[in-house]
Amino acid sequence: MHSLAICLLFFHLLFSTIAIETQQPCKSTECYLLNCGSSSNLKSSDNRYWEGDNHSSFSDQPKILEAGSSSASNASEKDPFVPQVPFMTARIFLSKFTYSFPVTSGQKFIRLYFYPATYSGHAKSQFFFSITANGFTLTKNFSAYLTASAMNSPNPTLEKEFIVNMPKNERLLNITFNPSPSSYAFINGIEVVSMPENLYLGPIDKPIVFVNNMETSIQLDMGTALETVYRVSVGGGQMISGVNDTAGMFRT
Ligand SMILES: *[C@@H]1O[C@H](CO)[C@@H](O)[C@H](O)[C@H]1NC(C)=O
Ligand SMILES: *[C@@H]1O[C@H](CO)[C@@H](O)[C@H](O)[C@H]1NC(C)=O
Ligand SMILES: *[C@@H]1O[C@H](CO)[C@@H](O)[C@H](O)[C@H]1NC(C)=O
Ligand SMILES: *[C@@H]1O[C@H](CO)[C@@H](O)[C@H](O)[C@H]1NC(C)=O
Ligand SMILES: *[C@@H]1O[C@H](CO)[C@@H](O)[C@H](O)[C@H]1NC(C)=O
Repeated sequence: MHSLAICLLFFHLLFSTIAIETQQPCKSTECYLLNCGSSSNLKSSDNRYWEGDNHSSFSDQPKILEAGSSSASNASEKDPFVPQVPFMTARIFLSKFTYSFPVTSGQKFIRLYFYPATYSGHAKSQFFFSITANGFTLTKNFSAYLTASAMNSPNPTLEKEFIVNMPKNERLLNITFNPSPSSYAFINGIEVVSMPENLYLGPIDKPIVFVNNMETSIQLDMGTALETVYRVSVGGGQMISGVNDTAGMFRT
C-alpha cells in the first residue's frame, strides 16, 4: 500500500514535470483556453492546456454565468480530421448563455472553435444562433454546419477569430450564445488572448493604408470590433501555425 502510494506520487511528479516542459507558455497578459463540455483539463495536439468548462471554482478563471439550460455533450461522429481537444466535446444551449472571462483592459483576440456534429440527439442542421461579446454582435443566426459546408474543405471544423477592445473600466469579457427561435446553440472551444496596444486598432493619427490602393485609408478606433477573414504571411513560404507565432498571440 505504502509503496503503491510512493509509486503513484512518483508518476504524478514525472507527469507534472513532463507537462511543465512541453506546455506552450502564454507570452501575452492573458491566455484562456476553454474546452466546452469537458469536465477535465486536457492538452491539445499543439501542447496547449485547455480547461474544462464544467468547474468554475477559481476566481481568476472563466466562470459560467446563467448556467440555466445548457448541457455538456460529446460529438456523436468521429472524424479522423478532427482533433479530440477541443472539438469532441461541446456545450449545447437551449436558451441564452454567457461565459464571463476576467480580463484587463485592451484588445483581445476571441477565437471560437466549432465542430458541426450531432450533439445529444440534435442534428448539426438544428443549430442556429447569435454570439455577442460585450455588446458587439459577432455573428447572427449563425450555422456552423452551413458555414463549414460552404468552405468545401476536408476538415469539417471551423474557427472564427474576432478582435474586441475592452474599455478601461470593464473587467469582464462576456461572450453570450443565444439560439435562434426553435434552434439550439453550441460551442466546442473558446480562446481569449490579449494583444499589444495599437496592433490593428490604433491611434487615430495612424490610418491603415491599403497595399494596392494607397489613396484609400481607413481608421479603426477602439469602438470597432474586427473579424479575421484572411491572414496572409507576406513573403512567407509556408503556413505558420499558432504555436509558431513568435509574438505569442497564437495567430495562424
Ligand atoms: C459538470 O459535471 C457533472 C458531472 O458529470 C454534471 O452533473 C454537471 O451537470 C456538470 N455541470 C455543468 C455546468 O455542465
Ligand atoms: C463524454 O465522453 C466521456 C468519455 O467517454 C465520458 O466520460 C463523458 O461522461 C461523456 N460526456 C457526456 C456528457 O456524455
Ligand atoms: C458582464 O456580466 C456581468 C455579470 O452578469 C455584468 O455585471 C457586466 O455588466 C457584464 N459586462 C458587460 C460589458 O456586459
Ligand atoms: C436563420 O437562418 C435559417 C436558414 O437560412 C432560416 O430558415 C431562419 O428563418 C433564420 N432565422 C432567423 C431568426 O433569421
Ligand atoms: C513550428 O516551426 C518549426 C520550425 O520551423 C517546425 O518544425 C514545426 O513543425 C512548426 N510547428 C507547427 C505546429 O507547425
